[in-house]
Amino acid sequence: MEIHELSSYWCEPLLSFLAVLEKHYEFGMFHPHAFDRATVERLAREPRQDFYCVLTDAGSVLAYGMLRGWDAGFEIPSLGIAVHPDARRLGLARALMHFLHTCALRRGSEKVRLRVHHKNISAIALYRNLGYCFDTAEGDLLVGLLDLGDRIEG
Ligand SMILES: CC(C)(COP(=O)(O)OP(=O)(O)OC[C@H]1O[C@@H](n2cnc3c(N)ncnc32)[C@H](O)[C@@H]1OP(=O)(O)O)[C@@H](O)C(=O)NCCC(=O)NCCS
Repeated sequence: MEIHELSSYWCEPLLSFLAVLEKHYEFGMFHPHAFDRATVERLAREPRQDFYCVLTDAGSVLAYGMLRGWDAGFEIPSLGIAVHPDARRLGLARALMHFLHTCALRRGSEKVRLRVHHKNISAIALYRNLGYCFDTAEGDLLVGLLDLGDRIEG
């Protein structure tokens, strides 16, 4: 397995992955951007500080992750993640989260935030296990914050 920054090469496999999520009606839980070709190709093509990556095996995308917010001028990036329904409960989300946390640290951010639907039990369990605190909510979404300094020292 490998992790790659999103590039034109990975657009087609990522579109197939997003189509599977859509088929499983999971865009309600995970919908960081439109899932259409034009959007994915734009994300892959345009230079940016925000970071989009795919975890792949034999040319297929098993997981998709991102850190966003730097392009908009925020110091704390927002993390997003999804794993292919056929590849869950194998630790891939946990592995990709650790990778994204280290990416954030290397880019100078000491905290990461995320928003998760209050009914998304599996994602909330994942985030709590990794040390995220959920002190605020925005409507149906819980807002999680992780202090990466704490994680490194702890
Ligand atoms: C949430 C999601 C990313 C988890 O991916 P995963 O690869 O299956 O997770 P992992 O195997 O790395 O599991 C790590 C931890 O997450 C939690 N977890 C994952 N799936 C779970 C489930 N079905 N029920 C309860 N806890 C779960 C557990 O705490 C687990 O640790 P454990 O195995 O020691 O119990 C995946 O279910 C997914 O892609 N869901 C749809 C998209 C989504 O909701 N993304 C998050 C948007 S905020």
